[in-house]
Amino acid sequence: MEKMLAKNVISIIEEFAPPHLAIEGDNIGLQVGRDLEKPIEKIGVALDPSLQVIKRAWKEGVDFLFTHHPLLKDGIKTFDSVIYEKLKILISRDIILYSAHTNLDICEGGLNDSLAKLYNLKDTKYLYENGLGRVGIYEGSLQEILDITEKYICKNPTVINSKVVEDRDTLRVAVLSGYGLSQKNIEYVSKIAEVYISGDLTHHSKILAEDLNLCIIDGGHYGTEVYGLRYFSKYLKEILEVKIVTLDF
Ligand SMILES: [Fe+2]
Repeated sequence: MEKMLAKNVISIIEEFAPPHLAIEGDNIGLQVGRDLEKPIEKIGVALDPSLQVIKRAWKEGVDFLFTHHPLLKDGIKTFDSVIYEKLKILISRDIILYSAHTNLDICEGGLNDSLAKLYNLKDTKYLYENGLGRVGIYEGSLQEILDITEKYICKNPTVINSKVVEDRDTLRVAVLSGYGLSQKNIEYVSKIAEVYISGDLTHHSKILAEDLNLCIIDGGHYGTEVYGLRYFSKYLKEILEVKIVTLDF
C-alpha cells in the first residue's frame, strides 16, 4: 500500500472544502509545517487549535492536525505565552497543522449544509451571497426545531421571542454555523427569516433581536460547528486509510 503523504491529505481536504470559497482575509490552509512529503499515519481533528488539543495531539502521536479555526488571529506579533507553547509542541513533534475555516462553512456538505440537513430545511438557499449560512422552510413547529436543537446541537439553547412564532406550523428558518448572532447578522436575517439558529449571542444582539421580533435559537458556537465537523471527520475516515482521532468533540 502506498504511503499517505501530508500533501495527499491536504488535497483530499481541499477537494471537499475548496480554498477559493473562503472569505477574503480568512487565515486558512497550512498553519504550521514544512515537509509536505511527510508520511501521515494518524490525523487529529478538532474545532480549535487550543493548547489542550495540541497537547492531546502530541500524546496521541498525531502527525497531522486538522482544525476548523485557524491558529493565528490578526495582529499577533509576538510568539510568547500560550502561542509559544503551541508552536513549541507542534514544531518539536513535527505535527503539521492545517485549517479549513470559512471554506468548510460554505462548501457543499460543509458545516452550514450539515445544519440545513439536520433541520430538514426545504427550498434551501444561501443566506449570504458569499455562501455563508442557509435559509429554507421548516415544515413543523418551533417546538420540533427546539427538540432537534437540544438533541443534536446543545442541551440548553437560549431562545428569544419564541412567542412570536409558537403557533406556526411552517417556518422560514436561517442557520449559520459558529458566530452568527452579531447585531449586523440579526438585522439582516430579521428581513428574510422568522427563526434564526446560530451561536454567540451577546447582550446587545439579544436586545436587538427582541426589538426586531426575530426568534433566535442560540445553540452555541461549539454546538453549531461541531455537528458538521463530526460528519467531516467521518468523511476523512472513509476516504483516507489512516487513523483519525477527534480531539475536542
Ligand atoms: Fe467558528
